Amino acid sequence: MCGIVAYIGHKPAEPILLEGLKRLEYRGYDSAGMAVINQRIQMARTVGRVRVLQELLQERGGFAGTVGIAHTRWATHGEPSERNAHPHRDDLQNGHGIALIHNGIIENYVVLRTYLQERGHTFTSDTDTEVLTHLIGELYDGNLEAAVQGALREVTGAYAIAVICEKEPDVLLVARKGSPLMVGVGRDEYIVASDSSAIVAHTTQAFTLEDYTVAKLTRDSFRTTTIDNVPITPQVRELEVDLGQIDLGSYEHYMLKEINEQAQALRLCLKGRIDPREGQVVLGGIAQYARELVKARRVIFVGQGTARHAAMVGEYLMEDLAKIPTEVEFASEFRYRNPIIEEGTVVIAISQSGETADTLAALKEAKQRGALTLGIVNVVGSSIARETDAGVYLRVGPEIGVASTKAFLGQVMVAAMLATFIGRRRFLAADYVSSLLRELQSIPDSVERVTQLSGEIRQVAARYAHRENWLFLGRGHNYPVALEGALKLKEISYIHAEGMAAAEMKHGPIALIDDGMPVVFVATRNSQYEKILSNIEEVRSRGGHVIAVATEGDEEIHRHCEAVFHVPDISEPLQPMLTVVPLQLLAYHIAVIRGKDVDKPRNLAKSVTVE
Ligand code: M6R
Repeated sequence: MCGIVAYIGHKPAEPILLEGLKRLEYRGYDSAGMAVINQRIQMARTVGRVRVLQELLQERGGFAGTVGIAHTRWATHGEPSERNAHPHRDDLQNGHGIALIHNGIIENYVVLRTYLQERGHTFTSDTDTEVLTHLIGELYDGNLEAAVQGALREVTGAYAIAVICEKEPDVLLVARKGSPLMVGVGRDEYIVASDSSAIVAHTTQAFTLEDYTVAKLTRDSFRTTTIDNVPITPQVRELEVDLGQIDLGSYEHYMLKEINEQAQALRLCLKGRIDPREGQVVLGGIAQYARELVKARRVIFVGQGTARHAAMVGEYLMEDLAKIPTEVEFASEFRYRNPIIEEGTVVIAISQSGETADTLAALKEAKQRGALTLGIVNVVGSSIARETDAGVYLRVGPEIGVASTKAFLGQVMVAAMLATFIGRRRFLAADYVSSLLRELQSIPDSVERVTQLSGEIRQVAARYAHRENWLFLGRGHNYPVALEGALKLKEISYIHAEGMAAAEMKHGPIALIDDGMPVVFVATRNSQYEKILSNIEEVRSRGGHVIAVATEGDEEIHRHCEAVFHVPDISEPLQPMLTVVPLQLLAYHIAVIRGKDVDKPRNLAKSVTVE
């Protein structure tokens, strides 16, 4: 949700900022802009993608200067337009030459705008961000750091900002509260960005700014303080991401790259976490809370989108393996409905980015009400990872495609390990756990096999890609997979798709089925196989075209379906890690056939940092 990047050093800022914006473009892509100081502020803004900004800069002969800021936007306040694009300036007539970029929302911007208008400020955009820029200008009396601190004491909401000022051309000010921001520490240079992908090409040393803190950067020093000017010392750490992980390589889309990486990602997720000799799962991140987890009376998973679907699989796993009553909540609903947290309640937040605003807010609510909080998160050092009492990282590597794929598998794998970790300490028999662990370790190879179905799936996709309405049905452990299959299809193809529990279809949605509607069933061999075959017949007899995900060796199912994708056999609770893969590939190929921008679907952004 908006990507920001800023640079101060001795190198030309423009190419570094452009490269950074390209890396961050997955965070928002409706408009882009840049400002660089060369005595005066030079600024370019445009509607559209970063490449449009690049063309504009070329037309204008480029910007000289070694200090600058740049932004790629996902609109919240104000339509995507040039005047609403960032950076924003303080008052052009009477200002100090201040330019600012922002990710987040200034909630009290209306009050502040009225106040500033009364003080003679003229606004040129519809954004909340411009208000903050003017407020800094209003408070500026020769000390940019003090003006930024003062302005941030007045605002409510969320922000990650970077500010430059003509009157202090050798200073870059950055600050954060609630939105991600990381400062890369190079040799006589700093590069600041929403995430490490824009930093690692320049340095692997970085620190994350805490909420309510400001960093004043010059070329060879930095000072961090709270917004009340209390000095603090951030912890500089080594970034674990390397460029190979974030480059597209020979792939056309990140989504396909990430689907193909899933087997290897799961190997990394499992590495060092299964101890076959002891017949146990080893999860260092939560070991200190093992006693509380074993005694837990209730688990509540919170998350949004794909992460919530992973949580729904987690619910089955937690109840199957750990026998703890478990619920799944939309994080966005949980925080506003006065949730009851009793002694022994564990709240587990699932998130790829670790920055999803709703999930973070739900977590804070749970913590405040006394729950033990855990995180199942991919991005190391992210807000959710830092806010939880403890957690387990996915270790699946950076996920850049807006449609989440490998994170889902990682989330389910971690949930399975967590449930086994607890279950083994409660009552699960050693023999059962040993066979479960062997199955967990076999999953990466099985995922690899399913991924090889891509060509076959593309052919089926070509047959049905023109259809505008789809159903995805599953039962039991595969019900969340049906939801995930529908979400994947709708978000990247803009096709209307609904996922639901197969038995629910008869209670209304069956009325939708007419001649030619594709209906995708997850119909693997498990305790509900016979029932799902009946559901398939119900659809067929009404003219629906049935596509199924089935178990290898199940040839009988071909008699009931027009197309079948086979996945290796595995025990029921673990099936979602295999059955979801054909659905990811189906959505991918349909979107490509329909000519959609798979990695940057319209209206979406990778990390949803507003509520
Ligand atoms: O970063 P998170 O896992 O917290 O993100 C949650 C959702 O926004 C995310 O899964 C979203 O639904 C994806 N676009 C789905 O592909």
